[in-house]
Amino acid sequence: MSQQDFDVHARFKGESYQDILDRDSRPVPECLRLQEAPYLGSESIPAEHYTDPQRFKLEVEKMWMKTWQMACRLEEIPNVGDFQIYEIIDQSVLVVRSESDRVQAFYNSCLHRGRKLATQPGHKAEFRCPFHGFCWQLNGDFKESPSPWDYQHLTDEMLQLPELQVGTWGGFVFVNFDVSAKPLMEVIGPLDWHFKDWHLEDRFIKYHVAKVVPCNWKVIAEAFMESQHAPITHPQIMTHVTDVNSQYDVFSDYVTRQISAGAEPSPLLDRRDVPESRILDDMMSRRYKQFSDVY
Ligand code: FES
Repeated sequence: MSQQDFDVHARFKGESYQDILDRDSRPVPECLRLQEAPYLGSESIPAEHYTDPQRFKLEVEKMWMKTWQMACRLEEIPNVGDFQIYEIIDQSVLVVRSESDRVQAFYNSCLHRGRKLATQPGHKAEFRCPFHGFCWQLNGDFKESPSPWDYQHLTDEMLQLPELQVGTWGGFVFVNFDVSAKPLMEVIGPLDWHFKDWHLEDRFIKYHVAKVVPCNWKVIAEAFMESQHAPITHPQIMTHVTDVNSQYDVFSDYVTRQISAGAEPSPLLDRRDVPESRILDDMMSRRYKQFSDVY
């Protein structure tokens, strides 16, 4: 194929996600009608990006220590003194409701000899280090040490717990290690409008499943943001989730979207082979299995 033949907006040639919306008998939310797919290049990514320790070091320095990251939900820390522990790379962070309308985040590290101030989430009236007993208020102010005569060279200001930036949106609590990072809402940008009808702030965690996988973070992130694998990896969902015609958008430097239609068969199947009753049955049996695994 010559460079001229190169299709920079490579797309599945059959029915698109937007075509599916056209068939909908009900009004479609405006945000689902948006399409923004700027061409950003098609060069291969070197495998070293997933394996090179130096590359990972750069990712930590330039991304993880500078980006907003979701640490917990507000309903996980409903009362003053409730706190969660957020851990990323080799950092541990206390996310605490320090006042009824205030959430703060501190490095979970004692300023004396660096012991973690807490190892489990919970509720505290103050953060007292379990090693020698240095103690801080919930807002990070230094409270006391067991032998102040040994620390006369230190002021309360010097002993203030180092703090991270905190932002909330839709009931989620975000933290940022970079004190000069852009405000959260500036980064979230269009997401706020996209989710205006979903009222995420009224949602809650019903159950939480997590798994630590020994790989570069991009391997997992990318596995869950593309639909190309679906027909081969889990063909059982092809009757009720679309795949190769998923729509991908890039709305800003920070916000992207991958969207697939539910209750619709894969365009790789012949629709005539998938009656609506089959779609419904498969959706319900999958859901029943998911919930029966939990309850
Ligand atoms: S390490 Fe925390 S009080 Fe000494």
